[in-house]
Amino acid sequence: MVTLLHQQNCRSCPALVASRRRIVHGYGDTASGIVFIGEAPGRHGADQTGIPFWGDRSGRMLRRILVQVGLASDETAGATLRCFITNVVRCCPPGNRTPTPAEVRACRTWLWMELDMIKPRLIIPVGRIALQEVGMRYLKHDPGAIRSVHATVLRSRHVTILPLIHPARISRADVQAFITAVQPLIDERNEP
Ligand code: URA
Repeated sequence: MVTLLHQQNCRSCPALVASRRRIVHGYGDTASGIVFIGEAPGRHGADQTGIPFWGDRSGRMLRRILVQVGLASDETAGATLRCFITNVVRCCPPGNRTPTPAEVRACRTWLWMELDMIKPRLIIPVGRIALQEVGMRYLKHDPGAIRSVHATVLRSRHVTILPLIHPARISRADVQAFITAVQPLIDERNEP
């Protein structure tokens, strides 16, 4: 399991410096070409564990999906991942609120650095904030509401994008729709 960036003593966002327990960068399989991007470390999960989507309800739901599509070997902390998992913002906002546009802007270099190093072929923006970031970088436009593009393949020149409704708010039917849509995109990688 690889983390590309090390903890830094970033102090760009005063509210986040005051609220975070730690800075959480992405981790996982950097050679897989598949990147999941969440919003920000959860107060009861990544902010405590230091691992994106680990330790809270959203994390458990995402991990269940990863196991179902073969991107995680199991649901334990020691599972092998066949994808990279990161967040738009690296510090947990006060009260688990949505990061502000200024906080997203201030944190952008970290995410873009990870994406530049990994050069993913498949990106799964998890939730609205990640969808906006990915849309801006790869599609050069706002792809619209997450609910209207959930599990819909969006292609840019170099990357396939498959938005996922945030696991904190996802229904069983939406999980199933995502699994059906993502499976052939994962398998593409394994074809000669
Ligand atoms: N945990 C994360 O790391 N990111 C989220 O978006 C939610 C929970």
